[in-house]
Amino acid sequence: MQKPENWVDIGAAIELQGNELQAVRVGKVTIALSCVGGEFGAISNACNHVGGPLGHGCLDADFVVCPWHQWKFHRVTGAGEPGFEDDRVPSYPVQVEKGRVLVDMAGATKRQKSPHKPHPLARKVERAEGPVRVVGISTTVMDENFPRYSGSDDLLVSALKAAEADGSVTKLIRLSALNFHACRGYYSKSARACTWPCSITQMDRHDELEVVYEALVHWADVVLIATPIRWGAASSLYFKMAERLNCVQNQVTIHDKVLIKNKVAGFIIVGGQDNVQGVAGQLLNFFGELGFHFPQFPFIGHSRGWSAEDMEQNILTVKTSRELHEGAGELARRCSALARRLIDTAPVEKIKRGGRKAHALKDAVLPED
Ligand code: FES
Repeated sequence: MQKPENWVDIGAAIELQGNELQAVRVGKVTIALSCVGGEFGAISNACNHVGGPLGHGCLDADFVVCPWHQWKFHRVTGAGEPGFEDDRVPSYPVQVEKGRVLVDMAGATKRQKSPHKPHPLARKVERAEGPVRVVGISTTVMDENFPRYSGSDDLLVSALKAAEADGSVTKLIRLSALNFHACRGYYSKSARACTWPCSITQMDRHDELEVVYEALVHWADVVLIATPIRWGAASSLYFKMAERLNCVQNQVTIHDKVLIKNKVAGFIIVGGQDNVQGVAGQLLNFFGELGFHFPQFPFIGHSRGWSAEDMEQNILTVKTSRELHEGAGELARRCSALARRLIDTAPVEKIKRGGRKAHALKDAVLPED
């Protein structure tokens, strides 16, 4: 091959072939340089999906696998994997001369993104006309085949009945009935790897947390969360859901985009022993971070007390307590009343510098073409 004058010397072949795949900075551009059986390939370091650093991924035969969500591109041609060939990242001619690796940076092929149908959750968030909509989310872990009595779940049902009697439309979601993955921690790779809609939701159409995203982001005006207390904290299913909601909060951090607007949250917390206020604090903090409003007195709680291990009595107490069930109803009414006020007043369209960080994210390792 004839060597044009402007090819860039990126280093000694003997050293560069020591890594099967690596990111190499060439002037202002970063490339994903691969070497298999002594043959070099050079493609753009920036993935077509949301910019993952391909050079930090791995090889699957002749395909570079993106470290963020595993899209694949041919390590020499830049073409997408079979079936997605039209999704191409730029590729660069490479040759070895006198033991040096040379890359023709001016000879890059064009990036090409084939159209991907946007996920339905990605649509614009717009409140449809109609009465206040209340979703109750029960986070109790339950054997669906042999259900047991759950105080927090029961109070949630009472809250939803009160909301209906008050003219609201309601929906009940029991997390225990949904089949969904735990968060895979894309955020830990990069803030931008945690996408909206959630990367897991986009990759696995069988993941059922979509029901919760749809209700929280698009449908509901009011979200009522019910949780038992487990060792002083909310239920494990609550946390499984909360971790997956990072993609909603993360939009504020990385795009200044607030998905939750003019919505209200309230909480029902029931424990055998203690820490209602501690759990409430954690729920208020997280749902505040998502962008929810709270009514005065945003939670109700019940626990039987530190010294009581007689759980049968606790079940009986919650089951038969008129005050608790009426209290749950009043919580729903307070939440709905605030939601109605928010709907009736001019909605906030643009929230500037939302989120606890209050400053723009500085991502120091942005991959480039
Ligand atoms: S697969 Fe590369 S950024 Fe998502």
